[in-house]
Amino acid sequence: MSLRVGIIGAGQAGERQAIGFNSVEGVSICGVADLAAHRAQEVAEPFGAPVFTDWHALLDARPDIVAVCLPHNLHVAPAEAAAARGIHVMMEKPIATNMPDARHIVDVCRAGNVKLTISFVHRFREEMQLVHGWLRNGDLGQPMLARETMNVQWESHLPLWLKSKEAAGGGVLMYSAIHGIDRLRWLMDSEVSQVTAQTRIFEAGGEVENAAAALFTFANGAMATLTTSAPAYPAAPTIWETEVFGTAGMARARTRAWATMSNADGPQHHDTERWSHELGAHYNFARQAAAFVEAIRENKEPAVTAQDGLAALEITLAIYASSATGETIRLGQ
Ligand SMILES: NC(=O)c1ccc[n+]([C@@H]2O[C@H](COP(=O)([O-])OP(=O)(O)OC[C@H]3O[C@@H](n4cnc5c(N)ncnc54)[C@H](O)[C@@H]3O)[C@@H](O)[C@H]2O)c1
Repeated sequence: MSLRVGIIGAGQAGERQAIGFNSVEGVSICGVADLAAHRAQEVAEPFGAPVFTDWHALLDARPDIVAVCLPHNLHVAPAEAAAARGIHVMMEKPIATNMPDARHIVDVCRAGNVKLTISFVHRFREEMQLVHGWLRNGDLGQPMLARETMNVQWESHLPLWLKSKEAAGGGVLMYSAIHGIDRLRWLMDSEVSQVTAQTRIFEAGGEVENAAAALFTFANGAMATLTTSAPAYPAAPTIWETEVFGTAGMARARTRAWATMSNADGPQHHDTERWSHELGAHYNFARQAAAFVEAIRENKEPAVTAQDGLAALEITLAIYASSATGETIRLGQ
């Protein structure tokens, strides 16, 4: 079954989604929509795809899949319109900026009988696949404690809307660290039941957080911490690190660099930097696209589910609520 993919929003995510989907056998890019025609043109050109400045017109051309790559507060309308036309949805993270919008997106996709996945693309990186494999294989025993550390740079090339509370719904958590929240849920294979957290704004007059520290308890009794920062000054190096400590072993991974594991059988070290060199910096978008296409072709649940999108947003909002109230927030009551 050949599939045609439309891209809505030709920013950095839109470009990566286009490259990712185009790499899947039997898949082509059938159009790119952006209010800024020159941006759409830049992303569309390598694929010879038509350009649209109104995304409704792109959906009227009936792609099989649409990747929604717009600012966070603009995710609802394209999802509604796609679902009404029977078009499957690859939704960039976070699914939305609030739970009613997020649930509405899930509901309309279900009602339209289309598949919905959320672009938690870090899962598809080699180092995360290794850590996940060790956990599922029982090499670490029962996971007890995990730690996510994310220091990212809010470089000048990033879009300005990400610092707008209205457009982005929040700061470093919504744009970046929600990947770490998703990684924790996925690795621990359990739902977060309690969140205690604080957030901080570093920039004078800033509307959204530059940093957060959170403590999570999982339904299976495991615990985890997440610290993240995204200052506006040049903050090299970017660090994305995950550590998991289990009853029988521990694992540690640095995004785009390596993954290590040690247990009674001895240590293992895997250099994962070469994957980016050999397969391209955004090979994880290609793997993610392939997984979604497979779910559509075989009519099965996507690897990253609508529930994954809802849960990651709910946890993110619980961090804000805990910081605002000084209380521990209980989820899934
Ligand atoms: N999964 C990832 O690793 C990853 C990486 C970056 C961004 N993202 C996500 O992708 C989404 C977009 O982020 P970005 O960094 O690409 O932003 P961006 O600002 O670079 O791109 C967004 C584009 O949408 C266009 N746009 C805005 N309103 C529009 C409208 N009504 N109709 C058509 N086009 C419109 C803008 O002109 C812009 O070109 C967000 O959800 C973000 O969190 C995900």
